[in-house]
Amino acid sequence: MAPTWILITVLTVLLSPVFGIKWLAISNLKSTFEEPTDCPKTAQEQTLVGFVQPQVELCKRIIDLMPFMRAAADETIAACEDTFKQHRWNCSSIKLAPNFEADLTKGTKEQAFVYALSAAAVVHQVARACAKGMLEYCKCGAGATLIVDEEAANELPKMNSGNQFHWQGCSDNIEYGMSASQEWADAPWKGRRSSRQVGGIVDDFINDLAESANEVKEKEKTVVGNDVEINTAERKRMLINQQNNDVGREAVASSQLRKCKCHGVSSSCHVKTCWNALSPLSDIAKRLKTRYLNAQQVHPSKLHILDPSQKTPLIPTPPPTDLVFLKPSSDYCDRTVHRECNSTNPAALNSCTNLCCDRGHSTTVTKTSEQCHCKYVHCCYVKCKKCIFHVERSYCN
Ligand SMILES: *[C@@H]1O[C@H](CO)[C@@H](O)[C@H](O)[C@H]1NC(C)=O
Ligand SMILES: *[C@@H]1O[C@H](CO)[C@@H](O)[C@H](O)[C@H]1NC(C)=O
Repeated sequence: MAPTWILITVLTVLLSPVFGIKWLAISNLKSTFEEPTDCPKTAQEQTLVGFVQPQVELCKRIIDLMPFMRAAADETIAACEDTFKQHRWNCSSIKLAPNFEADLTKGTKEQAFVYALSAAAVVHQVARACAKGMLEYCKCGAGATLIVDEEAANELPKMNSGNQFHWQGCSDNIEYGMSASQEWADAPWKGRRSSRQVGGIVDDFINDLAESANEVKEKEKTVVGNDVEINTAERKRMLINQQNNDVGREAVASSQLRKCKCHGVSSSCHVKTCWNALSPLSDIAKRLKTRYLNAQQVHPSKLHILDPSQKTPLIPTPPPTDLVFLKPSSDYCDRTVHRECNSTNPAALNSCTNLCCDRGHSTTVTKTSEQCHCKYVHCCYVKCKKCIFHVERSYCN
């Protein structure tokens, strides 16, 4: 066996942009994540859950985070399936994690959406966990305020002494959520970087693509040698994945809602606590779907890996809020055989015309009987008739 081959394999297992969302397989490990020893121990376990080495290390370092990473994976899968349920590509392939197929590995729009959504889900889960006091290292986020009307100001001490009232509101800790998502979801191409580690102290995290691109380049240079083909393709995918993860996080950060709660004896709202809360992930998925529909194809030749001293953006054309992709998707027509479609509403996304491509559909009618026209009769019973319904269902050929 050629030594270069071994080295390439090692690199791929430890750190690879292709690994990006393999961690969505986290539920494959039936661990309760209570002790650092519950993290993947063997290479087989690591492969089963699709973790790269820095993710295993984060798992061991802050085991408390892991149940929220699992919740983020579950939430990503559910929100993606729900968002695309009427489309030809209905996100069911996300469940193949960690063994994804071309639709989620070759730099498609669908891949862009799933990356963004999963990076967003991590922010969402961790930020809320902090606010709920479920993580040792983070507490409430910024922006909670207590608002007291003049009229209520003299009442306040009285109310405060009366019961052990928690005046302080608690915001979702978006900052901690963002740094956890950066460390976790970008790990497959960024690797370990002590300055970005979440934990007791959240340092400034370096978000400099040029720098990390160079870091990966250095690694590839030493490990892969002069195989320029692999280097370039991998680095381009890395840049795409990075932008899409950033887009997902930005979508969460800009989804903060101001929530307020009134207190006081009379509920007159003279005393009010307000805090920032994140929108549900299903709302964030809706926003990201709009961005998916407007995603920009980036031509590989336009992606430059810059010298780290140059601070110009790596992807010059698309704005940082755009999802980006490298390859146009297939029409996914091969995935809709026997899918149920809507034959009555041609404008529906899941209309038979759209869903079945040119193959046509077949319709089955099933009879069901149900109680109907129920009436209340005298005292004390209800009398119903039996109605027969014909239910028409259409399926793609
Ligand atoms: C999604 O499509 C697959 C076939 O590609 C099908 O097996 C699955 O039932 C579909 N899921 C939903 C929720 O329609
Ligand atoms: C088809 O679409 C119409 C209008 O959107 C809806 O009322 C109907 O329930 C749908 N039918 C099926 C079988 O989904």
